[in-house]
Order: sequence, then structure tokens, then C-alpha cells
Amino acid sequence: MSTDARTGPAPSPTGPLSTIDYNERIPNNVDLAADRRLQRALEGWQPKFLDWWKRLGPSLPTKDVYLRTAIAVGRDGWAHFAHVPMEEYRWGIFLADRNPDRTIPFGKHKGEPAWQEVPGEYRAELQRLIVVQGDTEPASVEQQRILGNTAPSLYDLRNLFQVNVEEGRHLWAMVYLLHAYFGREGREEAEQLLKRNSGDEDSPRILGAFNEETTDWLQFFMFTYFTDRDGKYQLGTLKESGFDPLARTCEFMLKEEAHHMFVGTTGVQRVVERTAELIKEHGTDDIWQYGGIPLTVIQKYLNFQYSVSMDLFGSEQSTNAGNYYSSGLKGRWQENRRKDDHELLTSERLMNVVEDGQIVEKSVPLLSALNLDLRDEYVADCANGVRRWNQALEDAGLDERLFLPHEGFHRAVGVYSGHYVSPEGEVVDEATWEAREGDWLPSDEDRRAVAALMVPEYEVGKFAGWIAAPQAGINEQPVEFDYVHLAEEALA
Ligand SMILES: [Fe+2]
Ligand SMILES: [Fe+2]
Repeated sequence: MSTDARTGPAPSPTGPLSTIDYNERIPNNVDLAADRRLQRALEGWQPKFLDWWKRLGPSLPTKDVYLRTAIAVGRDGWAHFAHVPMEEYRWGIFLADRNPDRTIPFGKHKGEPAWQEVPGEYRAELQRLIVVQGDTEPASVEQQRILGNTAPSLYDLRNLFQVNVEEGRHLWAMVYLLHAYFGREGREEAEQLLKRNSGDEDSPRILGAFNEETTDWLQFFMFTYFTDRDGKYQLGTLKESGFDPLARTCEFMLKEEAHHMFVGTTGVQRVVERTAELIKEHGTDDIWQYGGIPLTVIQKYLNFQYSVSMDLFGSEQSTNAGNYYSSGLKGRWQENRRKDDHELLTSERLMNVVEDGQIVEKSVPLLSALNLDLRDEYVADCANGVRRWNQALEDAGLDERLFLPHEGFHRAVGVYSGHYVSPEGEVVDEATWEAREGDWLPSDEDRRAVAALMVPEYEVGKFAGWIAAPQAGINEQPVEFDYVHLAEEALA
């Protein structure tokens, strides 16, 4: 094996096996107990993680929460549900099962056996990909820290905490890779993942959307719909990676991610349902006075979260993305379903650019536009939820509809940055933008009015007035179920 601490396989045990049964402390399927150096490194990181959780995790004091914990990676029965004190959640390390015959599915190493070690020539790039992914996981926990104080129900409170503990577990997943495969530099990066904090002036999180405040529950639902979905697509590309431990980690993370997006899809849907109900009941769209959120404001929240999430895909054209692909580090969404040569050296595609105040198409090498390729997949997926929400409006007999704004709307990254594009896709001048911004994005007043509706509803089976109850409970429990037991101090 390699003796260079910076590259090569995860370190093997060098001394007598520890008497601490580490499997008890960190559930895992990577045989941590057999690797003493790695085990000790993660042991050293664990209290720092728990300290971070205490300082920047959910602020509402709870006794216990009905949470699912990953206990296996198999197709059936990977999760276990129980009431557990959140700080005792079993954050574990789980990789999807290894396929010993797996080959690299794309790029110039296509067909070679998947790497079980970090290839020296791609070490820096792989580490960067893992750090950027890892940075988003605790960031969202920080952003959502105070939401528990205003939850619309115990059901929603439980879902928030489920998302939070799993984002914490995703951090563990990335930290495991850094510790196991990237030596001292990896361990230093793992420390930094707890030191950068969302919105921190001096040391912010790496990506813009993860420094925005999550001010209220409507934004939380939009976040889990649009921003967790960006996470799904990023994980989907890393799941194709030639670096097998990363691929297997991401494959398992995707299972958990599905619930986060369920929270977003159904959360927005329930807000829309309640809004439709109030509009019909009172015969007006202006339902603030009746304790509901007007559809126009829901649309503005949607516009905001969609546009900042679109920025997470990076510039449409990116040499890095092309290099990651050619090197076999990061694939395309559902790479093996693509009917092409999986090398893309001669393929072209169309992309939009802004020229002389017009949006026009031009042809570019596909390899240079892989961020756009992924973003297009994402956009198509985002449209599904909007259809569902519109179905709720139609079912209520209303003519109003929600829509995804144009891809160029409110963009800070890529070809549209520096241009003003309306939600309908019209390039406008700065004066027009300034005059219309309040119609397109949530104003301070909108946010204040939404915040005013955010009163906690902690009674079993009850829901705040601005949101409908869900169709069903979690894990076949009834909607009326004590999903969360608050600490005495929270009730006082
Ligand atoms: Fe995550
Ligand atoms: Fe997530």
C-alpha cells in the first residue's frame, strides 16, 4: 500500500485494535473498527461536530423526536423509526454496497475498473468536489436553526428535524471521505466544514444560496423543494464518479434526499391548498386579513428560491465541469441512460446568451456546457411540482396558476448575470427592473407579513391557519401523532 499519507487507500490498522467498540458510537458499514487511525481521527472530530450541533443546530429545546435512522443500505428496510432525543441521533457512515465489477462509465478512463483509491493526478479536484458538497450540508442546518420556534404543527416540526439530522449525516458522509482518503489536508478541510458558517461575514459558506437566511416556513418549503433538489442533481453526478467510495456514498445519500424534497413538494402544496380555500371562502385574492398567504406572494417566494438555486449550477459554460467529466470524476445525470459515446469530444448543443438586449441561441461544445446539461434536467424536474401545485388550484376551481420564471430571471451567475430579465423572459433595463422588482421578488413587507403568520402550533394533530393538513402521517402513523415531545422549557 501507499506510504504517502496524502494519497492511496484508507489507512490500515497499525496497532492493537482499540478496545472501544466504535461501532456502538458511530454506526457504519465501512468496518471502522478495523482501521484504528481512521477511527481515532473520526473520534477526534465527533465532539466538534456535536458542539457545532449544539451551537448552530435546531434551537428549539425538545425531549425527543420521531426520527428515522439509517440502519442498513439494502433495498428493503434501511430505516428505523423511533422517538429519540435529537442530540443522541446515531449519525452514521453508510455507503451503498460495492459492485466489484463496476467500471468508470464516462470520460477518458471509460471502461477501466472504478477507482478504490484516489488517483494522485486528480486528488486536488476530487477533494474540492467533496468539500463543496460537504459545505452545503451543515449550511442548511444553520439556515434553518430557528424555524422550530414557529412550526405550523408537530408533524412539520418533525419533518424539519428529520431533514436537519440527515443533513448532519451527509456532513459525516463527506467528512468520512476526507478523513479516509485525503490524509492531513482532508482532516483540515473537515475542520473547516465546521468553522465556515452560513451568513458569517468573515467565513461564509462556499455557495451563495447557502448564505441566505431561511426566514420562515414558506421559504423552508421552497428551499427543500428547489435547493435540496439542486443537491439531488449534484449527488446524481457524483454518484457516477469513477472514485467508487464517493459514488457509493452519494448513492445512499440520495435515498435520504428524497424525503427532503417530499417535505418541499407537499409543504408548498399544502400552503397552496389552504390559500385556494381562503380565496374561495372570501371571494378575494387578498387573504392576508384571513390569515392566509396570497398566491402572488407564494409566486414571489418561488421566483426567489428557484433563481438562487439555478445559480448553484454555476456558469453554463465551464472548463472545470468539462475537465471533471473527461477525468471521470463527475458524470452527467443518469449517465448510463444517455445514448451517446460518453466522451462528448465532438458533441455540440445549443445554449442561450444575451446579445444586444436579446436572448439568442448559439451552438457550443457539449463538453463545455455540462453545468447547463445538468441544470436543464433540474428545470424539467422542478416543473413537475409546479404542475402538481397547479392541479390543486384547478381542483379548487381557481383560474390562477403558478409558474417557473424564465431561466434568466434574477441570476447572479452565468450568461444572464449583469442583465435584467423578467419572469416571462423579457430583457428589461435597470429602471424597469427597479420599478417591478417588488412584483417579482418578496419585498421586506411580504416577508414581514408572512413572518407574522408564523405562530407555533404544538398541539397534537393541529395545524396553523395558513397551511392545510397533510394527507397522511409519517411511517404510517396518523397525522394526529405526538411526533415531537418538547422540552418543558419550550412549553413554558
Ligand atoms: Fe444533504
Ligand atoms: Fe437535503
